[in-house]
Amino acid sequence: MSGEHLLELNTVSKFFPIGGFFSRAKMTAVNEVSFALEAGRPEIFTIVGESGSGKSTLAKMILGSEMADRGTIRFDGSDIAGIRSRSAREAFMAEVQPVFQNPFEAFNPLTRIDEYLFATAHRFKGAKSRPEREALADKALQRVGLSLAEIRGRYSHELSGGQLQRVAIARALIPEPKLIIADEPVSMVDASLRMSIVNLFRELRDTLKVSIIYITHDLATAYYIADRVIIMRKGAVVESGDARTVLDNPQHEYSIALKNAVLPPDPSEASAIIRAREKTDKAFHTLSDQMGDKAFLHH
Ligand SMILES: Nc1ncnc2c1ncn2[C@@H]1O[C@H](COP(=O)(O)OP(=O)(O)OP(=O)(O)O)[C@@H](O)[C@H]1O
Ligand SMILES: [Mg+2]
Repeated sequence: MSGEHLLELNTVSKFFPIGGFFSRAKMTAVNEVSFALEAGRPEIFTIVGESGSGKSTLAKMILGSEMADRGTIRFDGSDIAGIRSRSAREAFMAEVQPVFQNPFEAFNPLTRIDEYLFATAHRFKGAKSRPEREALADKALQRVGLSLAEIRGRYSHELSGGQLQRVAIARALIPEPKLIIADEPVSMVDASLRMSIVNLFRELRDTLKVSIIYITHDLATAYYIADRVIIMRKGAVVESGDARTVLDNPQHEYSIALKNAVLPPDPSEASAIIRAREKTDKAFHTLSDQMGDKAFLHH
């Protein structure tokens, strides 16, 4: 155990086969990505990149749901590829919790949403009795601006996307993770509610001292929320560092083009841009088209 890094990625790559069953061609979804989060220094670490740049694949490898083909991922000093036993796996999952893009996919429409929270309290906190589970669920819900009373017995379709994403975040908080990986957590949320959820992540960093890997394709959101940032293109990190330094003065041509396309000159306008995300989405796609987004092959 090194104890210095909460998370450490060392030249992590992931390849996917392409071209059908008889083809041996592979594409590089993630290409030698390295970065580290320090232990005891909660931050919002943002991964920015256009569609297909490898953000979600990277997230899945950190969560242990995809294996890296090359390189190592260490969490709390241990290589996650070495997690074998069920108990080690459960312990890891308690420490690293996901929040996904679409909360409506995260909750089965036929299951009451409070049941998810109770199940998580049981599984990760060993809460055996109903009152224990309810107390843990309510505590987590309070942290995201809700309460058990508000959602008790309700189904996912009875909540707004924003409310349901808050419930998903509450569920992720129950195991008291050290790291939350949020993959485009506001893209399915109504524009008027996005800012409050973006701000919620900042609040959680400060109050719970949890580190957050926040994935977005929106530079304005990254500018607003990030302490540090990496910019990915076609699986590789093209730029990284302190968010202000990188985003104020990008060096790589891709980051410069990205900034010119989507970022307002005045940083205080960034939050307005997040609300008007539709516009930035359009700019982003135009940019991708202009730059020609051909998949690159790896044989
Ligand atoms: N299971 C898979 N099998 C084959 N190819 C995959 C698989 N998962 C991802 N890919 C490919 O890997 C590349 C990176 O995908 P990934 O989902 O990580 O990108 P992303 O940055 O999250 O994109 P988006 O912003 O659209 O979510 C893409 O070209 C994608 O098609
Ligand atoms: Mg993705």
